[in-house]
Amino acid sequence: MIDDKKTLFSGMQATGNLTLGNYLGALKNWVTLNEEYNCFFCVVDEHSITVRQDPATLRKRARDLLTLYIAAGLDPEKNCIYYQSHVSGHAELAWILNCYTYMGELSRMTQFKDKSAKHADNINAGLFTYPVLMAADILLYQADVVPVGIDQMQHLELTRDIAQRFNGIYGDVFTIPEAYIGKVGAKIMSLQDPDKKMSKSDENVNASIYLMDDPDTIMRKCKRAVTDSEGVILYRDEQPGIKNLINIYSACTGKTPDEVVAEFDGRGYGDFKVAVGEAVVSVLKPLQDEHARLSKDKAYIDSVIKNNADKAQYFATKTLRKVQRKIGFPDRVR
Ligand code: TYM
Repeated sequence: MIDDKKTLFSGMQATGNLTLGNYLGALKNWVTLNEEYNCFFCVVDEHSITVRQDPATLRKRARDLLTLYIAAGLDPEKNCIYYQSHVSGHAELAWILNCYTYMGELSRMTQFKDKSAKHADNINAGLFTYPVLMAADILLYQADVVPVGIDQMQHLELTRDIAQRFNGIYGDVFTIPEAYIGKVGAKIMSLQDPDKKMSKSDENVNASIYLMDDPDTIMRKCKRAVTDSEGVILYRDEQPGIKNLINIYSACTGKTPDEVVAEFDGRGYGDFKVAVGEAVVSVLKPLQDEHARLSKDKAYIDSVIKNNADKAQYFATKTLRKVQRKIGFPDRVR
């Protein structure tokens, strides 16, 4: 990683069943961008415990997610693919950054408001300071660019504010990261309520397409997607269900929304929904097959886990030492 490429960081939580939104809003863009940058793709298992998890399930999901990154086409020889919990610098930098983040800023985070409403019996301090850990993830690797879906924009703005505040006091310690939001797919909506984001925690299983759904299930969910009574396939806010399906079709096929509208001019919703289902299957089926193949190769996945954790640790330590020196922690004696 010693070259003049810029650095990219992103991550996903190993919580719940990943959805098509996670794929189209994030993972797909990671694959497009990975050649251009030095990349760190993290399974953010430390973020997951802000909501109570079953230990065995969390461990399995984390491994499945790491395998999914590779199955999607990210080469672990070229990209650093690792678990957050294997690199102690994330939590260490998060503690430091907590001391440069205001309660008022964290209180405004919509994800905190949503999650504390959903988990009213467990509004823990980690849920509140979650965005600081996310800032630490990004700043630890001096990331220039962070590809995420729109729902993470607020956290990214906060990361930039924290970094600027810190740099304002201590000089140029952190690179100020930019968000990368894809043109289509940055906000995939629920199939049952197109005013709401598609989410892995939705109680209605028909609202989300899960990455591991089989082709029949995908097709059934697309056919059941809530639309409207306009009867025309146009890309506009007045038809949020159809607009969402156009976004999905567009992100899966690489066609622009205008091209999709032209392709389905004069055709009915039934035909269109089938085409959307087929497009989704054509993207997810190869991903599922590759995931199943890689999952069987335990030795290979283990070697990725080991090598990449060491690599990430090296870069994380570099930044952490710099930060510790700047704020006045005593030097290590060798
Ligand atoms: P998470 O795990 O909820 O989601 C992972 C990625 O998927 C995107 N996404 C969506 N995009 C489009 N439409 C949707 N319906 C949709 N749902 C989810 C998210 O925007 C995200 O890019 N806090 C983060 C994880 C994180 C992180 C980081 C991300 C921790 N540290 C550092 C980037 C950099 C989260 O909970 O994402």
